[in-house]
Amino acid sequence: MPLPAWGPLRKDVSDTIAVRADGLFKVFGRNTESAVNKLKKGTPRDKLGSGTTAAVIDVSFEVNKGEIFVVMGLSGSGKSTLIRMLNGLHEATAGSVHIGGDQITDISDKKLREIRRKRVSMVFQHFALLPHRTVLDNVAYGLEIQGMPREEREAKAREVTQVVGLAGWEGKLPSELSGGMQQRVGLARALAADTDVLLMDEAFSALDPLIRREMQEQLLELQATLGKTIIFITHDLNEAMFLGDRIAVMRDGRIVQIGSPEQILTDPANEYVEQFVQDVDRTRVLTAESVMRKPRAVAYPSSGPHGALKIMRDEQLSAVYVVNRSRSLLGWITDRDALDAVRKGVTSLDGLVREDHGAVAKDTAVADILIPAIESALPLGVVDEKNRLVGVVPRVTLLATLGGDADAAAQASPRPDPLPAEVVTQALEAAVETGSIDAKEVK
Ligand SMILES: Nc1ncnc2c1ncn2[C@@H]1O[C@H](COP(=O)(O)OP(=O)(O)O)[C@@H](O)[C@H]1O
Ligand SMILES: [Mg+2]
Repeated sequence: MPLPAWGPLRKDVSDTIAVRADGLFKVFGRNTESAVNKLKKGTPRDKLGSGTTAAVIDVSFEVNKGEIFVVMGLSGSGKSTLIRMLNGLHEATAGSVHIGGDQITDISDKKLREIRRKRVSMVFQHFALLPHRTVLDNVAYGLEIQGMPREEREAKAREVTQVVGLAGWEGKLPSELSGGMQQRVGLARALAADTDVLLMDEAFSALDPLIRREMQEQLLELQATLGKTIIFITHDLNEAMFLGDRIAVMRDGRIVQIGSPEQILTDPANEYVEQFVQDVDRTRVLTAESVMRKPRAVAYPSSGPHGALKIMRDEQLSAVYVVNRSRSLLGWITDRDALDAVRKGVTSLDGLVREDHGAVAKDTAVADILIPAIESALPLGVVDEKNRLVGVVPRVTLLATLGGDADAAAQASPRPDPLPAEVVTQALEAAVETGSIDAKEVK
């Protein structure tokens, strides 16, 4: 998805964009410039001649401040080369990189070093720790290079060592630590520099799966509290899906798709991406929001038992959610309770609204709503951050999403059938006759 050619950065853009790549190329070997020209004219990558490798081809993207942007691709697809151009470890053969408002391609080495020190830090796959230095000294190393006085850098190092969960290990040597802990040191070292942008190249790929998931979770937590912009490289799709706000899929040096995990999954740009995503655990990527439907009906406190009952009769439901005027979820009410109340001449919903609605937040993973959805007495409610009912997940929908058998879900724990419409209508008419409700309210 090539971006339009940009003019000079506008202020409002650099305010929200942390990193921008524009038409980036990296060619290794001979005749690099002419290789770029050939590539631009459409020469395939494997027809550039021997001794010339096009590692990154015409890559453009923007990373928003505070975003986790994942670059995913098979080994050799150009990920490391790309990330190394973002902090100037590799010089781009063509194209430009902006960090915030500053172009880092075509600047002096001195300025580049400063940007690397203050704006962009990097975590590597193999930790790159200094074996004879303690954890604390490793974490403080970058600050030491910068010439920060000992006391100050050690205070900072202690702080971030704690942040990554290594308090108490400050005096140990790297060899005394497990792989996961060593990578925490690597992460702490990058955090110590206090840069806005964090580049992570396969940072968790060497860890075993359980430790790896733990690190991923911790990274998300850190990101939520520290608000860093993170560019995370991985060849692992599940990791990409778990971490990424957006994912760029790379193949043979090019970005073939950029999108949210869900977009990549549900709308792959081509067969390559489609094959890539075949094995991913959908229930971990899709959220309640992505599978929810509009509720067929809701009741309001002002509906009263008769109003709620009428809605349920009309929609053939045995229960409905009750929301207030701003759609905040108050609870749910059954047709049996409403019928009972109408027969008793009760006109208010007070005391009839059940609060054990079990609704889930809209960003809950589908994997985590299976049980609540089966247990829920009505289609599982989905609420936003303000507790507003934004949708429901009927069991059938859920099962369809998972490619399962809808009948099995219906049998999971049978819900009561709605009351027969005639029974409800009779009760409403009786209530009109006794004068507890007005005739036009049951029409
Ligand atoms: N310094 C280099 N010199 C020559 N070729 C390189 C160099 N670095 C990487 N390459 C080549 O560029 C391509 C992309 O490599 P890389 O960026 O390391 O991919 P990835 O990180 O996705 O595995 C590969 O074909 C690789 O062999
Ligand atoms: Mg690599």
